[in-house]
Amino acid sequence: MKIHKILNNISLKISLFLFNQRIPLSYIFFNKFYKFLIVKKKIENEEIYNFHNKGYGKLKINLNEGLNKFKDSFKISENKKSVPGEKIDKRQYFVVEHNKRLEFKSFLESSLSSTINDLSNYYKSNVTINNVQIFRIKNENNLEIQNKEIYSNYFHQDAYLFTYIKIFVNLMDISETEGPLEIVSINNSSKFIKKFNYKDRNKYKYVEDPIVYKNTGKAGDCFLFSSAQCFHKAGIPNKHRDIMQIILLASPNTNEKNSDLESREDVFEGNDKIASSAKPYSVFRTIKLFIDHLFHSIRYKYN
Ligand SMILES: [Fe+2]
Repeated sequence: MKIHKILNNISLKISLFLFNQRIPLSYIFFNKFYKFLIVKKKIENEEIYNFHNKGYGKLKINLNEGLNKFKDSFKISENKKSVPGEKIDKRQYFVVEHNKRLEFKSFLESSLSSTINDLSNYYKSNVTINNVQIFRIKNENNLEIQNKEIYSNYFHQDAYLFTYIKIFVNLMDISETEGPLEIVSINNSSKFIKKFNYKDRNKYKYVEDPIVYKNTGKAGDCFLFSSAQCFHKAGIPNKHRDIMQIILLASPNTNEKNSDLESREDVFEGNDKIASSAKPYSVFRTIKLFIDHLFHSIRYKYN
């Protein structure tokens, strides 16, 4: 085993033992210092209050009416080909037609503008939409993969800083039979670890417990959550579940709002910026990013 893997494993074990989280220690300290020194302390807004305290909450808006205008431009693509040695991904992705992308991105930006604005004020940073993916999770009857992780269906935290933010938009009505997202609030993490005897995403015992919130709801409902702070997993649907995942980033780079037309389309494709802004690969990079955020927040003007 390589030395950085060993150090990473030790860091994760300490995180779990001391902080009831399973992300690198440097990320935990980044989040703690950011919350202590940077985030807006006086929170009057209910959505942001829930996001700050629990790590998740439904948004007040419903996008169904607007989304219906775009649904014809979502085309289902092939399953991603599994590469040996890599994680299996059984999600089926929808591709948004190229000539609709700008209009669709503008629709999302304007529909979510009030939440994005509140998040920007909370983080004292520019929060922007960085990636949009639409996918279908299907029930897999194939015995060979039934007991494997095939679409993030084991409890985990996303290994990112808490400046990485997600919104799930239901593309259909989702009840328990559609396998909704299951999530545990920040303040229930320690209970969760004890009750589930949680060691890592492959080593825990699932129990039915009310501390696990299931994100059921109507088509168009939006759910804001911090996948880096909350343990969560995809539920298994009886048939299938269609969802849109929007990734937002609080980034210390100021010039992102003036992005040109071409880069505005990039949100529907893979995006390297997400890793460089929210998934630093060394302690040094994490500290540097924190300092950038700190200086940027001092200059930040509320909208
Ligand atoms: Fe995840």
